[in-house]
Amino acid sequence: MDISKAAYLELVGEVNFHNHRYHVLDDPVISDLEYDALLVRLHQVEESHPEWIIPESPTQRTGAEITSKFKKVAHPKPILSLANAFGAPEANAWFERISRLDERVKKSGFVVEPKIDGLSVVLKYVKGNFVQGATRGDGIIGEEITANLKTLRSIPMRIPIYDDKNLLPVIPEVIYFRGEVFLYNEAFEKLNLELFNSGQKTYQNPRNTAAGSLRQLDPNVTAIRPLSILVYQVIDYEGGNIPTSQWELLNWLKNIGFPIASEAAKFNTIKEAILFTEAWETERDKLGYEADGMVIKLNDLELAEELGTVGKDPRGAVAFKFPGREVTTTLIDIGLSVGRTGVVTPYAILDPVNINGVIVERATLHNFDFILEKDIRPGDKVLVKRAGEVIPYVIGPIKDLRKADSKAYTLPETCPECGSHLEKVPGEVAYYCSNLNCPARLFRGVEHFVSKSGMDIVGMGEKIVEKLIENGAIKDAADIYGLNGEMITRAVSSKDRKSEKEPPGKLAENILNSIENSKTRPLRRLIAALGINNIGEVAANDLANHFGTLDRLFSASIEELTSIEGMGPIMAKAIVDWYSVEANRNILKKLKQFGVWPEVIAVENQPEMKGLLWGDTFVVTGSLPTLSREDVKLLIESNGGKLTDSVSKNTSYLVLGEKPGSKHEKAIKLNVPILSEAELIALIEERKSIT
Ligand code: IVH
Repeated sequence: MDISKAAYLELVGEVNFHNHRYHVLDDPVISDLEYDALLVRLHQVEESHPEWIIPESPTQRTGAEITSKFKKVAHPKPILSLANAFGAPEANAWFERISRLDERVKKSGFVVEPKIDGLSVVLKYVKGNFVQGATRGDGIIGEEITANLKTLRSIPMRIPIYDDKNLLPVIPEVIYFRGEVFLYNEAFEKLNLELFNSGQKTYQNPRNTAAGSLRQLDPNVTAIRPLSILVYQVIDYEGGNIPTSQWELLNWLKNIGFPIASEAAKFNTIKEAILFTEAWETERDKLGYEADGMVIKLNDLELAEELGTVGKDPRGAVAFKFPGREVTTTLIDIGLSVGRTGVVTPYAILDPVNINGVIVERATLHNFDFILEKDIRPGDKVLVKRAGEVIPYVIGPIKDLRKADSKAYTLPETCPECGSHLEKVPGEVAYYCSNLNCPARLFRGVEHFVSKSGMDIVGMGEKIVEKLIENGAIKDAADIYGLNGEMITRAVSSKDRKSEKEPPGKLAENILNSIENSKTRPLRRLIAALGINNIGEVAANDLANHFGTLDRLFSASIEELTSIEGMGPIMAKAIVDWYSVEANRNILKKLKQFGVWPEVIAVENQPEMKGLLWGDTFVVTGSLPTLSREDVKLLIESNGGKLTDSVSKNTSYLVLGEKPGSKHEKAIKLNVPILSEAELIALIEERKSIT
């Protein structure tokens, strides 16, 4: 092929330009035919000059190999969720709450964006190159799906690192973006039709399709799924600066090549933000994709960061949820389930009904008081609602359609699992099974312990747990570590094995291996596995990092617990209450005996290694004369100091370089001491001489 390398590179640039016009800006400047011709030419050139192929060539988006399993990747910072607000009063209450915490909230302004019903992904770029993509996972660790994400044409493989004149850095050297992967309704319907026509299984809704398509082990399958992405956040970065307001951030994201939600809008007051949100409630179908609400975010990102989090939810943003969709169906019966804490909860068994793409057969009835108050009876026609990610729930009965012979619901008196008496705790709506050894209670606890978000004991399914309990092989979660091959084989053999391919001995061996492997799970997983009320994955992570061992965690007072960022009084009390139960302390004792006692070896937990900068928080701004961003991070952190992104009253020092950003002004305003690079090094030297 008669073409120079320079012309090839230009061709790559040209195809990428048209890709961006089409997939990101939704504004193509050439016809599909012309585009295809360019692509064919590119393929031809690359065939005759394979040695020229560069990773950012659009041809490199597909063709990656099939993997057998996804690799795990740790996110640089927790991938947070959002607290919900249902209606204007709750959104106003959020605003009032955070205004009380910091008076700058009133001046910050807001950005409102659609809350896309998709899947969060994290995209890592190093020196402008897309190097890694991951799912959210548990918010701490996700799955690496780089090859799959590369097939999304709207994700740029390269973003500009310098401005046009090659002078000013445009993006930090290492940067992590977050966005939502989803399908437009039209693309979803078209795909489903194609799947249907070719005799394949169809999907229920766009969100399931996006999830199923992203987690394909074969990226070539992902490549043919019409996935889209909208990007809205920077999770973390090193070496450079990024905009400090959400509005500027969105515009900047757009400028460097990412698709952003075109509906995003900026407001000065919460009132306007809410009005805008409410207007979208009735117009939601015009978005062209499923959104379960709008996200109201503080525009001032530094302030949002300083406000911190409550569990998994940042204080600086709130999800204003749209009301869900409602349907009518028959309540076949009221079922009862027993939870981990012995609480007995009623649920609705429904005549299956499709609500917005999801077949609903079960719905929550909240609690017994609710049933009595609404006079809900088995056999009634009921209104059921499904909103966002919450479990569908019964709104109430349609009494006019009730049959004459229907009878009011009577409260159960005994536990549906063990027949023991039910008790009501004064002041609570819940009914509890009075039997501390109720098998259902034990079952739920163990099920949670072995689950993916807990100790992740692969192969230890519901049925096997049930049998192990029935056979008396386990009396609490810790007993899992005392199981032997014989006990497991017995449980495996006695369960209904129609669908199993492996012989029981082999299955038991696999389970024993998973049990052994789970002994090395990090402390945060073990804390989450214990099933303490209100302690989810993020809180467990914070606790693990703060205390480092279970011994330290459970000897902490309520005061010490609540002093941890994100830990409220309810969570703190739940931890203390959990430990006050003897059976729980026995679980801990056994875990220790079995050697399941992980520790976090962090500098904070090793007083002798605290380092010279221990207790000091640093912020770096501008470029330093000799140290790169990586170097300065290493220097500070290896000496036990903490490096954060934004200046607050808790910042100990600002390290100042050339061309500083707004952090400099803020440090002056807050009276934060300022150091040059040389002064930072001198500070460390000086402390060395004291110790
Ligand atoms: S902001 C700190 N913005 O909704 C920032 N989230 O229910 C937290 N989501 O886990 C997220 N669209 O996966 C944000 N424009 C948007 C969003 C959005 C969809 C998802 C996200 C989050 C979930 C919370």
